[in-house]
Amino acid sequence: MESPQHAVILWGLGAVGRELATAIIDHRPDLRIVAARVYSGDKNGVDVGTLVGRDPVGVAATTDVEQILALDADCVLYTPRRTEIADVCALLASGKNVATTAFLFHPERSDRTDRDRLLDACRRGGSSVHGSGLNPGNLSGVLPLALSGMSRTIDKITLQERADWSVYDSTSITFDNMAFGRPVDEISPTANEFLAFNSALFSEQVWFLADALHADIDEVTASVDAVPAKDDHQIFDHVLRAGTTAGQRWQWRGQRSGETLIEIETLWTVGNEYPDHWPTPQHGWTLTIEGDPSMRTHFFSLASFRRAAGMEEHVRSANVATAMQILNAVPAVCAAPPGFATMANLPLIRSHTGFGHV
Ligand SMILES: NC(=O)c1ccc[n+]([C@@H]2O[C@H](COP(=O)([O-])OP(=O)(O)OC[C@H]3O[C@@H](n4cnc5c(N)ncnc54)[C@H](OP(=O)(O)O)[C@@H]3O)[C@@H](O)[C@H]2O)c1
Repeated sequence: MESPQHAVILWGLGAVGRELATAIIDHRPDLRIVAARVYSGDKNGVDVGTLVGRDPVGVAATTDVEQILALDADCVLYTPRRTEIADVCALLASGKNVATTAFLFHPERSDRTDRDRLLDACRRGGSSVHGSGLNPGNLSGVLPLALSGMSRTIDKITLQERADWSVYDSTSITFDNMAFGRPVDEISPTANEFLAFNSALFSEQVWFLADALHADIDEVTASVDAVPAKDDHQIFDHVLRAGTTAGQRWQWRGQRSGETLIEIETLWTVGNEYPDHWPTPQHGWTLTIEGDPSMRTHFFSLASFRRAAGMEEHVRSANVATAMQILNAVPAVCAAPPGFATMANLPLIRSHTGFGHV
């Protein structure tokens, strides 16, 4: 039986948005791209297919938000570099559902004012909004809950992400937003708007697990150890200078009476110098559940385990994974009742295309 067709809008055609666009064009006859929001003037008016290296699809990307709001669509795939709550509220109030990799991983614990505005917009538009991705997202939300189905009791959950971002071509995210290349004493959970926003997202993810698994924590703390580069590094069009930030070890800890029950730790570098005093899990994501039974799983994504692929393609695979987690959720988000469609209340999201034999 054929799935009903959904009209979708792409909001942001960056590293993640490109994967959404190409997946829809190549594999999803059940989805129809009706618009794309871009930010750069030189992309305005260019066909979406052309922008992502495919044949034209007959839809010109636009910087005009009003034009997008006026359109009819079932779902907006919202993947800009920076979240604008006002834009998301306008989309929701105009009756469009939203699936995003950018924020809202546990609405219950997000900023109260934002949450109220978003809920009100959902009510007005009869729409729902879903946040997910890789981390935050599947690995720090869905996977721990799936594994917990095998738990009798849980004492502690830890997710470690170890990644070198030198080959991540969104340098606006690594340098401008994440502040790599800045003086180390400028890095803190409240140093700039983006770091504060990003830190809050991971704190929310800790709360998500705590709330879903009855951890009854009192607080989530955030801390960061910023480490300077020993040498200069050329990272795409940026030079990361010796002495500036080349490593950030973040820890978000969900604590009850001072004891850490849930922890997300990220071990991020740019320039591939790894500090001696940091822990050394394998590259990728290591999820450990201490309890009865104790479990550990290690995740990493590659372009392929069978064929040779270049580094660029391997790195892209994490963007593919991030993008697919929300793309595969579109039918469920569209079917969800108005309000927050979360990783806890949506059904398990599976690959829509799978092996592709229908
Ligand atoms: N949950 C997860 O696991 C996960 C993983 C990766 C990324 N993310 C998030 O997903 C989103 C997309 O990531 P990405 O790697 O695709 O980002 P990106 O490539 O750096 O940027 C996405 C788009 O943002 C647009 N942009 C430019 N200026 C902007 C502004 N002032 N405000 C908002 N957007 C602006 C750009 O549009 P133009 O090209 O038109 O200039 C760009 O194409 C980000 O919010 C990122 O934090 C989440």
